[in-house]
Amino acid sequence: MSTTGVSAKVTLGEKTAEFPLLTGTLGQDVLDIRRIAADLDVFTFDPGYGETAACESKITFIDGEKGVLLHRGYPIEQLAERATFPEVAYLLLYGELPDKAKSAEFEQVIKSHTLLHEQIRNFFNGFRRDAHPMAIMCGTVGGLSAFYHDGIDISNEASRELSALRLIAKIPTIAAWAYKYTVGEPFVYPRNDLTYAENFLSMMFAKPSEPYVVNPVLARAMDRILILHADHEQNASTSTVRLAGSTGANPFACIAAGIAALWGPAHGGANEAVLKMLAEIGHRDNIPAFIEKVKDKNSGVRLMGFGHRVYKNFDPRAKIMQATCHEVLNELGIKDDPLLDLAVELERIAVEDEYFVKRKLYPNVDFYSGIILKAMGIPTSMFTVLFAVARTTGWISQWKEMIEEPGQRIGRPRQLYTGSPRRDIPASL
Ligand code: CMC
Repeated sequence: MSTTGVSAKVTLGEKTAEFPLLTGTLGQDVLDIRRIAADLDVFTFDPGYGETAACESKITFIDGEKGVLLHRGYPIEQLAERATFPEVAYLLLYGELPDKAKSAEFEQVIKSHTLLHEQIRNFFNGFRRDAHPMAIMCGTVGGLSAFYHDGIDISNEASRELSALRLIAKIPTIAAWAYKYTVGEPFVYPRNDLTYAENFLSMMFAKPSEPYVVNPVLARAMDRILILHADHEQNASTSTVRLAGSTGANPFACIAAGIAALWGPAHGGANEAVLKMLAEIGHRDNIPAFIEKVKDKNSGVRLMGFGHRVYKNFDPRAKIMQATCHEVLNELGIKDDPLLDLAVELERIAVEDEYFVKRKLYPNVDFYSGIILKAMGIPTSMFTVLFAVARTTGWISQWKEMIEEPGQRIGRPRQLYTGSPRRDIPASL
């Protein structure tokens, strides 16, 4: 970051202060208000942090007006087309795409960490069989901190890197086992002869009683879905990981915090909510009535998979997701999928509707991902889990970047207090 030489002069009563305008490599300039409390004795008020740059980052850039998403400068479209998920993870973590040799070496290192400590198996038994797999994810990933705590020194670069590699390697195993547990099937151990995406599908769907051959088209689609969810700048879950991490907390516990934040339907839980919504609509004839309900503010109903805090144009991930959706349905020989038909029609009606146009609400990444995942045989309750598997690479890269920032300090927002003024407990109480 550098200063632009321009500053904003603010006068508040008798006091005047100047706030420098900082510039990055891309995107909006930001006003540096770090001295605002000292100079003017006020804080800024920004509920939801919509207007606040809470950190400096070199990892991901989004231009919400133009529908651009870059990781370390590379457009998401190119990464989805030409890189593998582990290569994108490497890019997020280390800043550059690996060459062939480094890519193979990185995959090998990840594979050497895919097993879970056998004691972690016992964690699963503590959950009800009908537990939501995201609940199992929160608990079990948090539980990893008990296995990797004393040996972790977050001030040591090698230790931070090892935590990152362990997380990226183990998260698919935990996710697949969360699923196996809820359906009562035996856990399938990781296979190091498979790619990251193939191994995940194998741990999800293989059974010890019969051979399982991974369909390469589905593995490629899974790899692409993981790429599309790998990182997304300072969203709610990433900010949660950064905030938890800023206290110096154990990185596995920080990722568990991120998983909890991701679970909500306004964030990663939206992919699950889209399918529920499509099932509820049921038939294209019911779309107009549903759209009316969405537009009625009193109904509390939103069009799930639509809208984004940052994208005020199309979400570039949604476009790639839509193309992948067609590839998967073709490969599986699914013609005239009723859910896809419904989604396409819903999108067509919504993008032409004045309500959505005026508010710049377009389909986001979650609008089509659920349909692909469902076609691949992934149960609805696992959709957000898959998002968490992918986003772990983004979370841990952002965590690492934050810890490595010179002068890094605890995240601690302030507030506008509107509660009772000071008062004394009445003698009668
Ligand atoms: N359906 C109907 N109206 C909507 C929707 C929607 N999906 N999203 C926003 N609006 C309306 C909202 O009611 C408001 O209208 P008005 O100005 O008349 O009050 C206006 O659009 C602005 O909405 P907002 O709530 O201030 O926007 P936000 O930036 O706070 O919310 C969002 C962003 C993603 C939470 C929201 O668009 C939403 O709830 N979408 C549905 C859930 C969803 O698909 N989430 C996944 C996001 S992408 C994956 C990820 O990154 O996690």
